[in-house]
Amino acid sequence: MRFYNSSLRLILYTFITITGLCDKSDPRSDQGYPSGLMSVCPGSTKPASIPRSQLKYLLFVVQGRGHTRKKYNYWTARNIAKDPRINFTRKTLLLALGYLDSTNFPISSMLANEYEAREYNIIMVDYQRFATVHYYLASRLMRPVGKHVAEVLTQLMESGLNPSKLELLGFSLGGQTVSYIAKNFQRFTGRNISKITALEPSGPCFRTLGPGDRLDSSNADFVEVIHTNIDGYGMATKMGHVDFFVNGGEYQPSELLLYPCTSTCSHFRVLALWVSALKNPKEFIAIKCDSIQQARDAKCYDRRPVETNVMGPKVNRSSHGIFYLSTGKGYPYYLGANGLNANYASWRQISYVNESDDVEIYT
Ligand SMILES: *[C@@H]1O[C@H](CO)[C@@H](O)[C@H](O)[C@H]1NC(C)=O
Ligand SMILES: *[C@@H]1O[C@H](CO)[C@@H](O)[C@H](O)[C@H]1NC(C)=O
Ligand SMILES: *[C@@H]1O[C@H](CO)[C@@H](O)[C@H](O)[C@H]1NC(C)=O
Ligand SMILES: *[C@@H]1O[C@H](CO)[C@@H](O)[C@H](O)[C@H]1NC(C)=O
Repeated sequence: MRFYNSSLRLILYTFITITGLCDKSDPRSDQGYPSGLMSVCPGSTKPASIPRSQLKYLLFVVQGRGHTRKKYNYWTARNIAKDPRINFTRKTLLLALGYLDSTNFPISSMLANEYEAREYNIIMVDYQRFATVHYYLASRLMRPVGKHVAEVLTQLMESGLNPSKLELLGFSLGGQTVSYIAKNFQRFTGRNISKITALEPSGPCFRTLGPGDRLDSSNADFVEVIHTNIDGYGMATKMGHVDFFVNGGEYQPSELLLYPCTSTCSHFRVLALWVSALKNPKEFIAIKCDSIQQARDAKCYDRRPVETNVMGPKVNRSSHGIFYLSTGKGYPYYLGANGLNANYASWRQISYVNESDDVEIYT
C-alpha cells in the first residue's frame, strides 16, 4: 500500500513538474502568463442586443421566507419591491451564475440558502436563455443582459432599494456579468453598488479585454475577487480591490490521491471555498504579494512586512492588493493562522516524494 501511494505521488509530482515546465515557456508579464484557454474571441467587443420580444426570458427569482421562491421576468420585475420576501431595510444580494447555469440547478440554492440565513433579500438573475448558446455569443450577450438587469435595479431603487446595501455575487461568466450590471447601474443612477464578489470571473473571451469591457475595481465601492483556475476557466488579472489567488490561483489540491484536481474541478472549487468562508469568516487568512507571479509561485511568505487579509465577508476593505491564500485539501479548506506558514501549503505536501518512510520505492 505504501508502495502504491508513493508511486502515485511520484506520478502526480511528475505531472505537476511537466505542467510547470510547459507554462514556463510562455513569456511572463506582471499580469501573469498572457496565454490561457480561449484568450481572444472573434467579435467579443462587437455590440450585442436582446430584442424586446426576448426580454421576457430574462428572469429574476426572489428567494426568502423559508427557502420559498417566486419568479419574475424583466417586464414584471418592478413588483419585486412588493414581494413579501423583500424588506429593503435589510441588505440585498443579487446573484448571477455561470455559462449554461440556471436558478433551477443546485449552485443557486447552495449560495442563496447561506445568504437567506444571514437575512439578506435574495434576487437571482436567471439568464439561462442567453447563456445556453455558444460560449462566444453568451459572453457577448452578457453586455445587454447587464444593461437590462441594471434597469431593473434602477426601478427597484425608486421603490426603496438602497445601493449602499446592495451586493452582487457572480460566479464564472456571472463574475463578468456583474461587472456589466454595475457599470450600467453607475451610468443610470450615478451611484455605486456597495460590493461585488466575483468567484472565478471567466477568462475565456475576456483575457485580453481592458477594464471597460470586463470586471474592474472601478465597478463598485468594493470588489473582492477569488481566483482558483486562472489559465483555464478563470483569469490571471487583478480585477478587484482585493484579489485572492487560492493556492497560487491555478490548480487546487485534490482530496483524492488518484485524481488531480483539473481545470473544471479547480474552477468549481471556488464555490465550496466561498460557502466555507461565509460560515468561517475569519479563517481564510491570506498573505499579500507584490505581483500575480509571486502569488502563482507561492513566493509571498518572505515578504516583509507581512500583510494579511481574510477572504470572505470579513475582508478588510482598506487593505488592497494581490493575496496568496493557502488551503487544505478538503472541506472546510481553511488553515487559519497556519496559512501564513509555508510548511502547511498543499503543494509542499504533494511534493514530499522522498520522505524517509517512502524511500523503499526507489530501491
Ligand atoms: C424589515 O427588517 C427590519 C430589520 O431587520 C425589521 O426591523 C423590520 O421589522 C422588517 N420589516 C418588516 C415589515 O418585516
Ligand atoms: C465608485 O467606486 C469607485 C471604485 O471603488 C470609486 O473610485 C468612485 O469614487 C465611486 N463613486 C462614487 C460616486 O462613490
Ligand atoms: C485593515 O487594513 C488596514 C490597511 O492595511 C490596516 O491599517 C487595518 O489595521 C486593518 N484592519 C483590521 C481590522 O485588520
Ligand atoms: C529530500 O530529502 C532530503 C533529505 O531528507 C531533503 O533535504 C530534501 O529537501 C528532500 N527533497 C524534497 C523534494 O522533498
